[in-house]
Amino acid sequence: EQHFAGNGLLQGQRVLVTAGGTVERIDPVRYITNDSSGKMGYAIAEEAVRMGASVTLVTGPTALPAPEGVEIIPVQSALDMREAVMSRMNTSQLIIKAAAVADYRPAVVAEQKMKKKADSLTLELVKNPDILQEIGTLKKDQFVIGFAAETERLDEHALEKLKRKNCDLIVGNDVSQEGAGFSGDTNAVRIFDRNGLVEALPLQSKKDVARRLLELAAGRMKTT
Ligand code: CTP
Ligand code: CA
Repeated sequence: EQHFAGNGLLQGQRVLVTAGGTVERIDPVRYITNDSSGKMGYAIAEEAVRMGASVTLVTGPTALPAPEGVEIIPVQSALDMREAVMSRMNTSQLIIKAAAVADYRPAVVAEQKMKKKADSLTLELVKNPDILQEIGTLKKDQFVIGFAAETERLDEHALEKLKRKNCDLIVGNDVSQEGAGFSGDTNAVRIFDRNGLVEALPLQSKKDVARRLLELAAGRMKTT
């Protein structure tokens, strides 16, 4: 069951992709999440398979069908995602963090459904670990790609994140731009490395964005 349609640029490489939003429980029937659809990460996983890679997809809950030929690791919370990713980072050559990880989670998860009582309720949130930053700190030869979802000052924020998280590339995504949001089938991105802008991709399908991003990565990865 070989697929000859792809270009083989990632032949023999192990690729770890994260996708979707994480789900942070409040109680057994309630949670906090975000608008991520998972489409960008799933498109990356699919294209990586086409390019010959062996792909693992760590994914928050999405409405998407599992891409063919991809190992799927379903997770809920940021803490779950961290465990799934950190335990696989050393066996991956390329790590792509397209997931929209919740920055905060409820400080306590109620064991029973919370009852309605006072007129106002304050939910205490605590910060989640930054998975990408941990990867950036621990990485050896892995090629690491982060995403930066922004609604303002895209270039500045994306570059700051790339440096802080020690990524090789970062995909800056203006999520306020028409057609480039979380939920659609298209995206427009600006890809940066340490030295600045590498490529600006005009509005196109997430599949085409995925393919171009993987081509850039393949060209820059150590081929040993
Ligand atoms: N990320 C992560 N773990 C987190 C938060 C973010 O691994 N707890 C990753 C995302 O998967 C993405 C990158 O970091 O690849 C940037 O995420 P983003 O939300 O844009 O950046 P933050 O550092 O969370 O900053 P902010 O939300 O304040 O802009
Ligand atoms: Ca964030």
